[in-house]
Amino acid sequence: MTASPVTHFIQLGYGKVGGPLVQLTVENRARIERETGVCLRYAAVIRSASAILGDDLAVGAADRGMSFDEWAPRAPGMTLSVLDPVFDRFGLPDSTRYVLVDVTATADTGSLLLEALDMGIPVVTANKIPLAETPGWFEQARTASRRAHTPFRYECTVGASLPVISTLVDLMTTGDTIQRIVALSSSSLSCILGDFNRGIPMDAAIADAMKKGFAEPNPLTDLAGRDALRKIVILAKTMGLATSIEGVAQEPLLDQDYASFDTFKGQGMARLAARLTAARQPGMVTYCVGSASADGVVTLGLRSFPQASIWGTLEPSENLFLFTTARFGDLPVVVRGIGGGPMLTASGVLADVIKAAQR
Ligand SMILES: NC(=O)c1ccc[n+]([C@@H]2O[C@H](COP(=O)([O-])OP(=O)(O)OC[C@H]3O[C@@H](n4cnc5c(N)ncnc54)[C@H](OP(=O)(O)O)[C@@H]3O)[C@@H](O)[C@H]2O)c1
Repeated sequence: MTASPVTHFIQLGYGKVGGPLVQLTVENRARIERETGVCLRYAAVIRSASAILGDDLAVGAADRGMSFDEWAPRAPGMTLSVLDPVFDRFGLPDSTRYVLVDVTATADTGSLLLEALDMGIPVVTANKIPLAETPGWFEQARTASRRAHTPFRYECTVGASLPVISTLVDLMTTGDTIQRIVALSSSSLSCILGDFNRGIPMDAAIADAMKKGFAEPNPLTDLAGRDALRKIVILAKTMGLATSIEGVAQEPLLDQDYASFDTFKGQGMARLAARLTAARQPGMVTYCVGSASADGVVTLGLRSFPQASIWGTLEPSENLFLFTTARFGDLPVVVRGIGGGPMLTASGVLADVIKAAQR
């Protein structure tokens, strides 16, 4: 049997998702090679101010997790020169197979990812920020990817490892027309509003989302809806709409900006609970939902749905995506499930890496 060619894995970020991603990759790579022919070896794991080079150190990081401390300082900045030590050791991309993976949470990686695509290096990302927040970035990445048939995969930016982007892309590339997307994409808001729909008071619903690990340390970040906003923008752009964060008709959950969760807790929380109670109708459930329509309208806000519909069957924290298309007619294509969590996200990123390496 001939040996599979090696794909050198360059990973940006070693946080809540990046740590489990190294572990999952190292643990499963023999199986991956056996079943897919993709032979993954780490070239580098790069953090904000440090890096490790080579597969042996990545295996050490997989074994020791967050207690691994053999990180070497790296040069500041996020330009292509960050990859010079990798190219010096493993070869230039015209002679070496690479996959560049972004599991950071910063806009800073955006230009590096575009340069990589231009050089023919496949890119996988779970980082929503460049796609949703940097004007023109998504369009540039897609053009660069199409020009040289270089994979650009971003499944885990929406719904973590749920097959959301791939379902949408498969529908579109086989000639279906997407008429409308409806998305409950924030696990934390799904948890908070799902509990509230069941009659749990707002403070207990927020505490529950925090306890289950769905909410950010400051739950105002979730309640402000930025994450759900980024996700509906990514879905709308994937659908081909010329949209932006500013272009979304948004109906914020919060009545004002709060300096801290403590300042929100009293009156702010009571006003949010009163607003949700007023929106509540008998036999209905209320969620914070994004939508994107073929006519270009993209929205994010509270919507109520019959308890007797699919919306009434959701578990708190579950994500739900409905794709209404020309071929499927009145019955939308449904993707639902747990759409977050470090290990699930890492597994989705790894699946994207394998597909990107297969080109
Ligand atoms: N957690 C989830 O359930 C989930 C689900 C879907 C998508 N995502 C996305 O996955 C990404 C990672 O999430 P996370 O929870 O793992 O974030 P995190 O714990 O905050 O980790 C971020 C990592 O990025 C590194 N980093 C920051 N700036 C960098 C730079 N300029 N260059 C290189 N590395 C840099 C940090 O370096 P240091 O270690 O040096 O600080 C850290 O290792 C985010 O974009 C998030 O939105 C997460």
